[in-house]
Amino acid sequence: MTPIVAPFPAARLRRARQSPAIRALVRENALSAGDLIWPLFVRAGEGVEEPVPSMPGVMRRSVDRIVEAARQAADLGVGAICIFPYTGLEERTEDCAGAWDPDNHANRAIRAVKAALPDLAVMTDVALDTYNINGHDGFVVDGQIVNDETVEALVRMALAQAEAGADIIGPSDMMDGRIGAIRSALEGAGHRNVMILSYAAKYASAFYGPFRDAVGASAALTGDKKTYQMDPANADEAMRLIARDLAEGADMVMVKPGMPYLDICRRAKDTFGAPTFAYQVSGEYAMTKAAAQAGWIDGERVMMESLIGFKRAGCDGVLTYFAPEAARLLGG
Ligand code: PBG
Repeated sequence: MTPIVAPFPAARLRRARQSPAIRALVRENALSAGDLIWPLFVRAGEGVEEPVPSMPGVMRRSVDRIVEAARQAADLGVGAICIFPYTGLEERTEDCAGAWDPDNHANRAIRAVKAALPDLAVMTDVALDTYNINGHDGFVVDGQIVNDETVEALVRMALAQAEAGADIIGPSDMMDGRIGAIRSALEGAGHRNVMILSYAAKYASAFYGPFRDAVGASAALTGDKKTYQMDPANADEAMRLIARDLAEGADMVMVKPGMPYLDICRRAKDTFGAPTFAYQVSGEYAMTKAAAQAGWIDGERVMMESLIGFKRAGCDGVLTYFAPEAARLLGG
């Protein structure tokens, strides 16, 4: 596109900014509650809502409270919820068997939410880190994160989630070959309409710190995730990963974290035209909340500005801890 601009004063570009009505007329992008996916943390117990200290306003909830939060999401018109389990060190094992237990906290939450609110879309997390004794997304053998053995476990995990009623499977592990394996297992088990939102371009990021507190992985994690998550310096590699995951049967793709990677979102949308999401991760949320609490920024305005930024960068939607707060402001 070549913009045509008449010489001044024929063109006064400020004309288009002169009033709220005119600005609304020429506005290029819009955010709606239906674009948002709200991540929720589920833990053991009943009637429990436990704050996550590094994420002000975010709770770990027992299954019954997850259902209440889901109802709130539905009432606000939020597009989907995404369920992550919190597991204490005592619930973690080397074989990660909890990950495909049909009765783990996450699967019980999926079943309870779908029973109460069948129309609300429920997304999951597929990765071993929340069940693994060492906090890694894959099995660790002799200090290496092994790929193919992990993919077999991820397939079992994804099938258990689909059985529990999940609408969208979210592999966040960055192993090779897992999208194809999960897709064919889903087809084989008759789950033809279960979608896969692949965390296709997920970077080895320091912005995940508060999330690892929220799911109990901080204490568990040994080493870093750089042999499977991406180098923040790379962009072409993200396009190869997204192309690969779409070719293996992903319905939608995600870029993660969000704000530092808006260039990747834009390139992904322009290159593939697939449904594209960004994950505005825990560290992005925590920074905004902390600065707002200190009185250094206007928290609400920064929240809305960051969210419209994702739309402008080509995203169809955003996973964000701000989902209910933003939806409320959007009038839901
Ligand atoms: C791991 C996973 C992580 C997040 C979602 N899934 C963290 C990690 O890779 O260590 C981070 C989300 C956030 O920071 O909000 N499977």
